[in-house]
Amino acid sequence: MNTFSVTAKAHPNIAFIKYWGNQDDSLRLPSNGSISMNLAGLSTTTTAAINPNLKSDHLELNGSMQKGLALHRIQKYLSLIRKIYKRDGFLEIKSTNDFPMSAGIASSASAFAALSTAVAHLYELHLEQKELSTIARLGSGSACRSIPPGFCEWKTGSSHEESFAITIAPQYHWHLWDCIAIVESKPKEITSTKGHRKAKSSPLQHARIMDTPRRLDICRNAIIKKDFRSLSEIIELDSNIMHAVMMTSKPPIMYWQTTSLMIMQKVKQMRQKGIAAAYTLDAGSNVHIICTEESYKKVEEILRDIPGVIEVLKSPSGSGASLIQSTKAN
Ligand code: DP6
Repeated sequence: MNTFSVTAKAHPNIAFIKYWGNQDDSLRLPSNGSISMNLAGLSTTTTAAINPNLKSDHLELNGSMQKGLALHRIQKYLSLIRKIYKRDGFLEIKSTNDFPMSAGIASSASAFAALSTAVAHLYELHLEQKELSTIARLGSGSACRSIPPGFCEWKTGSSHEESFAITIAPQYHWHLWDCIAIVESKPKEITSTKGHRKAKSSPLQHARIMDTPRRLDICRNAIIKKDFRSLSEIIELDSNIMHAVMMTSKPPIMYWQTTSLMIMQKVKQMRQKGIAAAYTLDAGSNVHIICTEESYKKVEEILRDIPGVIEVLKSPSGSGASLIQSTKAN
């Protein structure tokens, strides 16, 4: 029997300008563009192999066989890829995260970036980076930004082929760090996928979308010029606007916890003392604090002393998704 197995690795990313809401939910065509930084310190490694004996795709996550939602999401995704590229063969997928799953860090970006990279090689799709980014997006929107390296921008696009992420500045262009203050370890009640569907129900979403090109310009320029002051203002504003939309959706989605707010206030105080730090929160209560090479150790120390902070993870800017190994055996 011919066995062919492929291993790929990808990092999650933290959005500076957030993706929230879709023009098309099934294709994950976003309502607005977004900008992010890949996180080298956290990664997902995924091995995929075609197994002719399987009657459906199998998924092992951190050593345990999956059933239910996680498995169904992967099966739906792989069926779609096989349909688009006219391929056959069910897969055995083994995936591990080197960051605690219980920490509530979104792993879908690194998971689908690593999976799509592995599957593209396994099915010999010969995709360029842009097309790989489009297929990662079909699994999880933010995954398209984990395909290219460094600081990435995902332009909305109005069709599947047009909606992908590109690098706007390389990984080592600016030595920024993300210190992640974990304040809750259980999975969030409302997943991002569900949240995106509610975005339109907020009276603030339209204004948020209309103002996004302006925020994208400010953020892109701040990254290119390495202007931390401008970056900190825009990422905090963008995070606050997204959470305002979440809080005013029907029904309202409240991700912030008391400790999240305490940390946001602390970050403001740090900046007043001259420490380069800015907060941003995804669809959850954990707070990401973006820092410079000079400030991240001090920021980590301060965060560890805040009551309610369970753990602090940290990461510098990261590379894109990559192929680690490819083995063909008879
Ligand atoms: C708040 O990419 O996790 O983190 O496409 O349904 O998997 P799905 O959603 P996802 O949404 C990310 C939302 C966010 C903002 C961002 O990363 O841009």
